[in-house]
Amino acid sequence: MSQPMTAQLKNHIQSTHLDALRFRRAIKDFDPDRQVDPADFDFICQAARLAPSSNGLEPWNIIVLRGPRLRAEFVRRTGARPEQAAQASHLVAITAKTAKGIDPDGDYLAHIGATVLGMSPEAIAAWRVRFKTFLTERIGLYGDDAAMFGYAARQAYLALENMLVAAAMIEVDSCPLEGMRYSEATAVLAEAGLIDPTTDAFAVAAVFGYRSADPKRPQTRRPLEEVVRWA
Ligand SMILES: Cc1cc2nc3c(=O)[nH]c(=O)nc-3n(C[C@H](O)[C@H](O)[C@H](O)COP(=O)(O)O)c2cc1C
Repeated sequence: MSQPMTAQLKNHIQSTHLDALRFRRAIKDFDPDRQVDPADFDFICQAARLAPSSNGLEPWNIIVLRGPRLRAEFVRRTGARPEQAAQASHLVAITAKTAKGIDPDGDYLAHIGATVLGMSPEAIAAWRVRFKTFLTERIGLYGDDAAMFGYAARQAYLALENMLVAAAMIEVDSCPLEGMRYSEATAVLAEAGLIDPTTDAFAVAAVFGYRSADPKRPQTRRPLEEVVRWA
């Protein structure tokens, strides 16, 4: 156990963190001439990697669309807004596991069990049974492919949020992007050999870079007393 942090350090971290959350805006217009430094983008990806996930499944991938042709194809076919998707330094497609991808009897569960969680084959077999029970009896999603994908996509959004916050901490701008044709996004990624569409599908995108203009409106939120209810 580490030493408890000093009050001074805690105050500093709290104000730095809230400043970053206030700095983070959904940026519409990016400076096409400013690139995020590779080490800074690596930091942002590390934050995605450390996101929590239900059952430790990490049912996401972060696909950085670096090649100009692939990126242009993605923007064109998905209908993503070019000022964001084409001009920001980095365009990222976040994918999530489909129902088949996270099937309790499937390969991915065995992969996570063996290579990430260090389980023996016997432990993996027992985990398969427990996970199926969890999906059927606890959260009641098994057999509903759309709900199963939604379950995985919810985890993917946690990775997204970690990226947005990490970026803001180092004053890198960003915008999450949902406003696009999902089936086309999955198709572009599959055609490029980046995913197997039976096990993985597009969940959400995000761009990172530097703003060329400040947002037109200030950041607005409901008051804390309305958001948080104490019972
Ligand atoms: C999951 C998600 C998807 C979003 N999709 C888009 C989008 O496609 N295009 C866009 O301009 N903004 C998008 N936004 C940004 C929101 O509109 C924005 O976060 C919200 O209006 C609050 O503004 P702020 O982020 O600047 O505080 C998205 C936000 C989230 C969380």
